[in-house]
Amino acid sequence: MRDYEGYPIGKTIQYLTDPEIISLAGGLPSPEVFQRTELRLATEKAFDREIDRIMQYSPIPGEATLVDAVLRFLERDDIHIGRDSIVITTSGQHGLDLTGRLFLEPGDVVLVDRPTFAGAVVAFNLQRPRFVGVNIQDDGSDVAGMRRALENLATEGTPPKFIYVVPDFQNPSGITISLAKREALLDLSYEFDVPIIEDSPYRDLRYSGETIPAIFTLDQQRDGDHVIGLYTFSKLFCPGMRVGFNIGPPEVVTRMTHIKEGNILNTPKWNQDMCLAFLEDMDLEQHLENCRSYYRAKLAVFLDTMAENFPPETGVRWTRPQGGLFLWVSLPPQIDTGELFFEAIEHKVAFVPGEQFYGENPEHNHMRINFSFVSKKQLAVAVERLAECIKKRL
Ligand SMILES: Cc1ncc(COP(=O)(O)O)c(C=O)c1O
Repeated sequence: MRDYEGYPIGKTIQYLTDPEIISLAGGLPSPEVFQRTELRLATEKAFDREIDRIMQYSPIPGEATLVDAVLRFLERDDIHIGRDSIVITTSGQHGLDLTGRLFLEPGDVVLVDRPTFAGAVVAFNLQRPRFVGVNIQDDGSDVAGMRRALENLATEGTPPKFIYVVPDFQNPSGITISLAKREALLDLSYEFDVPIIEDSPYRDLRYSGETIPAIFTLDQQRDGDHVIGLYTFSKLFCPGMRVGFNIGPPEVVTRMTHIKEGNILNTPKWNQDMCLAFLEDMDLEQHLENCRSYYRAKLAVFLDTMAENFPPETGVRWTRPQGGLFLWVSLPPQIDTGELFFEAIEHKVAFVPGEQFYGENPEHNHMRINFSFVSKKQLAVAVERLAECIKKRL
């Protein structure tokens, strides 16, 4: 671990102790949508019913009641799997950890988008892999670029262990992979015999446009068994609960369960009961609709204030996500957002410098913006504060 540096976003966030700072840095859902009363009631109910079991160890793959509820949750997405194809995780980051531990040994290659999710880079980095990145495009992964990368890697004798993507409203860019590209990624996966890791925390948070089938669903329709799905309820319900799940072919999931045995044993039953209540007793669809309407309105405020502050001649560009919690702002290449960050916090606004979202060769002129957490009013003020420091450097 001597030269392992941990999660850079954690270091970024430690500068944000001043309450005056409006932070667009974290990946936090908004407390405006928290279901506090419902959670209290669910907790009481679970305690009344099963306090002794809550206080005990519980099954490693997950509580059967939660597993069944999750299988029903997936049927909404036309995903039909059995209990042997799922392991409950202690949230998304744990799902990534199990994936890295299962597939990677030092020097193994992982094929990713550029940018990609920083937490995945951090989790996989524990196994010392080599990342090969291909620049993402407006409609998702550059499949032709990935094909070239796969061909080169095959020639070098180092085929990747997997392709890692976040197809819906990617963290950090907000970009969604089109249907045609999802099919083309599957073609690549079959042709080069490389599994796809589909990390999917945001699928239910779509604010505009049509839902696109999950890569997992498309793979099932083609009988491929080449996709492993990683999910978390952190962004839909609350990150404090720490519950998610991984799905995939039984031989993969069984091995992930064995690793879970060795690394955390079981996910706390208490948390799984909260999750079960969220899925079955609370009004899931109404809650999701509520989240979508809050976040849709916040995104609109952010985009409108950006357009007012950065006319096209400034060279500042940003993505227009159809969902999720993040978007990606690209500044002219001379502006280093790692430096801009410190000036921004003096102006009482924060973002995450884009350089943290690359497996290799980071670019330095981008910012990841979270638009879900702060209020609409604060979002507009935050953009104005950002504009003040960016305009000085244009
Ligand atoms: C793409 C992606 N995967 C996984 C995670 C980790 O989720 P969790 O907070 O449940 O560990 C996140 C959180 O931001 C994410 O954006």
